[in-house]
Amino acid sequence: MDRIVISGGHTLRGEVRISGAKNAALPILASTLLGRGECVITNVPGVKDVLTMSQLLVLLGATITTEGDRVAIRADQLRSTAAPYEMVKTMRASVLVLGPLVARWGEATVSLPGGCAIGTRPVDLHLNGLVKLGAEVSVEHGYIRAKAQRLRGARIHLDIPTVTGTENLLMAACLADGTTVIENAAKEPEVLDLAHFLVKRGAKIAGAGTDLITVEGVSVLRGADHEVIPDRIEAGTYLVAGAITGGDVYVNACRPGHLEAVIVKLRGTGADVIEGKESIRLKAARRPRAVDVRTFAHPGFPTDMQAQMVALLSLAEGTSVVVETVFESRFIHIPELQRMGAEVRIDGNHAVVSGVAKLTGAPVMASDLRASAGLILAGLAAEGETEVSRVYHLDRGYERIEDKLRGLGAVIRRVKGSTGGAGAGQTP
Ligand code: EPZ
Repeated sequence: MDRIVISGGHTLRGEVRISGAKNAALPILASTLLGRGECVITNVPGVKDVLTMSQLLVLLGATITTEGDRVAIRADQLRSTAAPYEMVKTMRASVLVLGPLVARWGEATVSLPGGCAIGTRPVDLHLNGLVKLGAEVSVEHGYIRAKAQRLRGARIHLDIPTVTGTENLLMAACLADGTTVIENAAKEPEVLDLAHFLVKRGAKIAGAGTDLITVEGVSVLRGADHEVIPDRIEAGTYLVAGAITGGDVYVNACRPGHLEAVIVKLRGTGADVIEGKESIRLKAARRPRAVDVRTFAHPGFPTDMQAQMVALLSLAEGTSVVVETVFESRFIHIPELQRMGAEVRIDGNHAVVSGVAKLTGAPVMASDLRASAGLILAGLAAEGETEVSRVYHLDRGYERIEDKLRGLGAVIRRVKGSTGGAGAGQTP
């Protein structure tokens, strides 16, 4: 397994270009199963999760041609409607093929994505919604089996504004007979990007990006081209890299409007954040000030930026309280940060972060995608050398992170591991 080694204490300065959003690309790629005709998706990030989704779609029978960030895909015929455990266990977002398979092909057999480092990650809301749409759903031997002659429109109220749950049901509703209303829908920009793509293909969707989405089912979706939105979490991660090293970072090809909650908090730490049309510049404070953070569904502070923010606040002047309201165990980065000298007390879903004057480099272990990012950021600021192991977690969601950080002045290198591949257990 590869490791990333960072020599800390270098101020980051310069420009970094943001890649396409992993969490928009994944549902968009899965949604190509809904129709016939070629779809050309651009600004697709070169990350492991996208490769895994592409491999799954090919396994199902789609034809895919990838050239750089451009993916041409056609799913006119399928040879299978089954997403096997071996594939789903490496990427829980594989569950996004469930809605399209049932809607277009009348059946789906998808391995239950297990729990992972950040929580139990149930999919009950996905399944209950499909039942509302008229599918017969059963769970046996670790697999979800769903089938339907033709889905029919329904009113679905989501107990929780689940992101992939909203996406699965939105995709299924596009081909259902009649009108579907999804209440308490997720409002993340990635949901809206998926809806934009579906509408280009002929879907009839209103209200995407709000908590009330209405879909008029159609009989077929055609091919379309689409450019994936920039990755707001990648953008936020590089802004924190600038803030934690006392630097001056210009994040390009991003959407400031997708990051308002993060920008507000970074300003609260004393950073000077200048928003452009498709760029954000952050000039760090001499030392960050403590701020309180509470994660929420969009447009609240994103849970996917919590670990990065804790790393920054561990060096702040004062004490911050960070509350994780979305996932039940998303503080797994904190014990590793404590090995670097961070002073954090965890009490349930609250983390009380007492800022220290410095962190010291140490060997640390990544446990999930965003926790890994938090450790990398801490290493950039720490005195001495930090070695982050199990960086396959990082590669799932960050494109060429060490190259991009080196381009900003970080002293960072990847050490190729002896044995490749993911570690044990479910990955978020
Ligand atoms: C999406 O996961 C993202 N993944 C996650 O990003 C992100 O952290 C999460 O949304 C929250 O923003 C993708 O988009 C591929 P949820 P998702 O369903 O859809 C509970 C990353 O780092 N819940 O919105 O799986 C669930 O347990 C990843 O890129 C149910 O109870 O998250 C959680 O507590 C990590 N039943 C809450 O809802 C369900 O059926 C929010 O989960 C579904 C969810």
